[in-house]
Amino acid sequence: MASSRSPLDKIDIVEVVSSYIELRRVGNNFVARCPFHPDDTPSFYVSPSKGIFKCFGCGVGGDAVKFVSLYENIDYWEALEKLAKRYNIPLNVNRKSADDKLLLALQLVADFYHQELASSKPALQYLQSRGINSSTIKKFHLGFAGSVERLVNLLKREGLLEVYEKSGNILKAEKDLYHDLFRHRLVIPIRGVKGEVLAFGGRSLDGSHPKYINSPESEVFKKKSTLFGLYEAKEYIKEQEEVTLVEGYFDLMSLWQAGIRNCVAPLGTAFTEEHARLLSKFTKRVVLLYDGDEAGKKAVKSSVPHLLKVGMKVRVAYLPEGEDPDSLVKKDPQLLKNLLRSAPAVEVDLLEKVKRGQKGALEDLLHFCSYVPDSVARFDLLKEVAGVIGLPLADLQRRLVKVEIGREREEQPLSYPEVALLAFLYRFGFEGVSLEGLSLSPYALSLVEALRLQEYHLIPERIKNFKAENMHSVLIDSLKALSLPEVEVFRDFQHRREKSTSKPRKIRKRV
Ligand code: CTP
Ligand code: MN
Repeated sequence: MASSRSPLDKIDIVEVVSSYIELRRVGNNFVARCPFHPDDTPSFYVSPSKGIFKCFGCGVGGDAVKFVSLYENIDYWEALEKLAKRYNIPLNVNRKSADDKLLLALQLVADFYHQELASSKPALQYLQSRGINSSTIKKFHLGFAGSVERLVNLLKREGLLEVYEKSGNILKAEKDLYHDLFRHRLVIPIRGVKGEVLAFGGRSLDGSHPKYINSPESEVFKKKSTLFGLYEAKEYIKEQEEVTLVEGYFDLMSLWQAGIRNCVAPLGTAFTEEHARLLSKFTKRVVLLYDGDEAGKKAVKSSVPHLLKVGMKVRVAYLPEGEDPDSLVKKDPQLLKNLLRSAPAVEVDLLEKVKRGQKGALEDLLHFCSYVPDSVARFDLLKEVAGVIGLPLADLQRRLVKVEIGREREEQPLSYPEVALLAFLYRFGFEGVSLEGLSLSPYALSLVEALRLQEYHLIPERIKNFKAENMHSVLIDSLKALSLPEVEVFRDFQHRREKSTSKPRKIRKRV
């Protein structure tokens, strides 16, 4: 058809995606259960005309290359090369891109720091004082940032000085004078999943502040999707079918040395949904081993939703107050191992707290409940809670819907088609309408639930007041826009409309 299209248009997204997962045709599009999150209703859409996929459940989307890169856990470039080969597309782009050169420079610097460590007494002494042995030093390729002159000369010689500046790890003060961010610190390389050095963490040796300095974000280093230790731990994680989450660099290295090797640590930042998604490619089970202090408890609370959302089973191990994994594994390794082994599932732990009547535990439990993606599991849990506290199940369901709506409101604005559909349900009710196969955002789904439970005060005014000249065509357009299998709802709607036009229906007053 069109002549001046990109050669990448040869890639048929339906063919590509269906070589990984089974697709079902619905109208002009294709649907499936989303492979990137636990999905009980098919929320994953592929549009051949637009050449894109989109999941209405978890929000991922993109083109065929993006799909392959996500599914195979490879980077965009590799996915592109793979598809180019399959479709015989010449790629006249330079693979040795700027990013690759930066990675090369980072590896060079990591090696340099590692060599420098061998002759740095203070750094070696420090490691000894923290009980880190030489095999751990090797495994994690630890280093020391000594002479910045030697570092700069090396980078110059390799023609990588300018490239390395882009990492933000060295700063040019004036001509030929550089400042090394990690100067006189112990340097811990942070690797990507395939072992490539992406960044460094630097610990002060003499108690100077700040205790840790990490590389700033760069083209190759994104904190929200990088986990320290994942490269080293991944085979252990797969083997043990579980990952342990700790907070710090030394926590991870000390546990490693004690033989607990399936650990990863976020980098002094909050644990994100991207972290969770990355982990879920290796295992579906996680134990949180955070400090026993307030900060640790907060970290548990904020990590769990992300982990639940991607379908992981979460257990929580609480350390004695004042200990971190590093200190405890040295003091009493057996106690730490017992804590890990007997750590209860997060919902069991919360249920215990509810039973004991701990303040705020029920709220916490409902909060967690609202993130359990499997509706059957969520219902079972709710039933159990109802039994434990002797409250009618319906009451708890109402409270849960309230929690869900409060949580989702900020996260996900409703789309116009969703508003239209909800307005229709509000006005005409559910009778004869099948919502099966609809792809709605979690927020829209909780509003549907609120309508079912007749909790009208939870329904935004925007929906209650929704007006359209022709509800009929607005609804049809909306359904199309949502790429929904429109027929059934449409049929029901028409049927309703006929009823309501023949005999105008009095709208019950709802508050
Ligand atoms: N962290 C950081 N930057 C800081 C402080 C902390 O990146 N300024 C990160 C580090 O990864 C650190 C983790 O957060 O390991 C946990 O911090 P904290 O508990 O304060 O330190 P510890 O890990 O106990 O550090 P250490 O054992 O080396 O004293
Ligand atoms: Mn510590």
